[in-house]
Amino acid sequence: MTAPLVTRKTPADTAAIEAAVRCLASGGLVAFPTETVYGLGADATNGEAVARLYAAKGRPAFNPLIAHVVDRAAAQVLARFDADAARLAAAFWPGPLTLVLPKAAGCPVAELATAGLDSIAVRVPHHAVAQKILAGFARPVVAPSANRSGHVSPTTAEHVLADLGGRIDFIVDGGPTSVGVESTIIACLGEPVLLRPGGVPRDAIERALLQPLADPPAGFAAMDDAPLAPGMLASHYAPHTPLRLDADRIEASEALLAFGPKLADGAERAARVLNLSERADLIEAAANLFSHLRALDAAGAKCIAVMPIPRGDLGEAINDRLARAASPR
Ligand code: TXA
Ligand code: MG
Repeated sequence: MTAPLVTRKTPADTAAIEAAVRCLASGGLVAFPTETVYGLGADATNGEAVARLYAAKGRPAFNPLIAHVVDRAAAQVLARFDADAARLAAAFWPGPLTLVLPKAAGCPVAELATAGLDSIAVRVPHHAVAQKILAGFARPVVAPSANRSGHVSPTTAEHVLADLGGRIDFIVDGGPTSVGVESTIIACLGEPVLLRPGGVPRDAIERALLQPLADPPAGFAAMDDAPLAPGMLASHYAPHTPLRLDADRIEASEALLAFGPKLADGAERAARVLNLSERADLIEAAANLFSHLRALDAAGAKCIAVMPIPRGDLGEAINDRLARAASPR
């Protein structure tokens, strides 16, 4: 683990909001209030900042994050809206609704933040402090609930400090949140599907859509940090090329996903080599994971050989995703 940080908690005045924006711009982690729960924010376009966010939360897996933006126009840079999504955004944004949509071409959000998926979760929060931070930063901010993985979502700055003190840079204290439960998540990737019940009630959404919603799978509303994946929604990224894990010898015509300064035997035979982190840094490796997998998947090799990656810190989540990507489907 990296050295403990000094976590500053400050009332949400103008100076605090400016400091929060500067902190985000320098790759830092800032907790801030939204109307639902406090979020832990990072620059969505900065892969290493996103990797540090997963490390701070102690997530054992890279679950995709919600990108927060100031308005619908900013959301449109990230995602494609069909007619249902447009209706829901018009009815409930800004507010406690998250939409899972197809990623737009040229979406600037780091691959790690969407866990390599082709879809992206987008939300425009209503809270004045969140709005000011997003307007000042003028880039998307990924923000999971600001709790340690497995703990309940925080509705006060004190909850955030108790859970994440020493692990993040800054807490903007805007008092208790008003909604108190997370945003409702609707996927619009075809027929609209309710992925997580939350701040906007189901019947309000059905009225806006003029049709009933498909149900979430039983039981998953109760779980924090669970990947939400009913029906046609993929729950994790999987390359087309088979993966071979913990490879210490590389065969000809394999592509190599390397880690660390010393390449596996036979690396010179590889069709293509990409290194997650030559200096064996797990933050850098996490930031590169999904983009390197995609690039190697496109190399036309018969197999992607993956060198062993240590299991400590973010290594646990990296190995979790690699194991899922390698499992037969
Ligand atoms: O109210 C909220 O939504 C809060 C505030 C801070 O905005 N955020 C929040 O984020 O609850 P988080 O990370 O704790 O929960 C987001 C959920 C996760 O279960 C994740 O799996 C799901 O959204 N999610 C994100 N992107 C997804 C995608 N592309 N497809 C399916 N599920 C997705
Ligand atoms: Mg959460």
